[in-house]
Amino acid sequence: MSHTIPKVVATVAQLREELRAARRAGRKIGLVPTMGALHEGHLSLVRAAKAACDFTVVSIFVNPSQFGPNEDLTKYPRTLEADLALLAGCGTDLAFVPTGDEVYRAGHATWVEVGSVAEPLEGTCRPGHFRGVATVVLKLLNMVQPDVAYFGQKDYQQALVIRCMAADLDVPVTIRVCPIVREADGLAMSSRNRYLSPAARQRALVLWNSLQLAGRLVAEGGRDVHAIAARMRELIETAEDARIDYVAIVDPETLRPVESIVGRTLIALAVKIENTRLIDNCLLEP
Ligand code: PAF
Repeated sequence: MSHTIPKVVATVAQLREELRAARRAGRKIGLVPTMGALHEGHLSLVRAAKAACDFTVVSIFVNPSQFGPNEDLTKYPRTLEADLALLAGCGTDLAFVPTGDEVYRAGHATWVEVGSVAEPLEGTCRPGHFRGVATVVLKLLNMVQPDVAYFGQKDYQQALVIRCMAADLDVPVTIRVCPIVREADGLAMSSRNRYLSPAARQRALVLWNSLQLAGRLVAEGGRDVHAIAARMRELIETAEDARIDYVAIVDPETLRPVESIVGRTLIALAVKIENTRLIDNCLLEP
């Protein structure tokens, strides 16, 4: 395992200079876009990039345009030194850590709006979120021009929005989506987990427990989405102060609600615990 801190560049010009040699040598370039506060979930993406590519770039940029006015932009964890140490441990070749002004230069006026898959679920709860995500991801793809870009399934809808954007705009990149990484007790890893007090961290297990409950109900032959969602809600509401944004049982390609579970189905949920908004999901195949 390499323990060399990756080279860090902050400007697009430096980034392109570093990538020129790799590209000239015919190296396959992998990009892992992140907002920092790295955890095992991110590192699994870096490892996937390392395994399939010859040169791995990780971007660390807390993208202001994907946060709503009352969201956690200012308190979002910024842990650059620790992030670089973790990236060293998995052999990242280059870290791209731009400033806000480098990404959104004065006069920036172009935005990417993705259609129907960006509308429900997170799109409804966080208006403008996917416009910010799609715009920054397209910019990062244009800056790095990777062969492959890696995203986590925990942000299932985000990955779908990015796939749709890349396909619709003919971006020459392969989008890879890697499985959710969970703590030993099942909580999906997230940079926002660090906001939770120890007691709230325990209560947050209701997200995973409710997904497991849904899995059991389907395995026992349950097909009625309303009954399954009701049981999930009931379980989540046993956690003191849990506030449900949505429990959705939907088609995994269109994100439209399904009436009964007949084929591959996505169950996605967003719940606030102690004011921290957590999301999780699972794909079921009856
Ligand atoms: O998933 C994230 O961390 C962010 O939404 C992303 C893809 C890095 C864009 O800012």
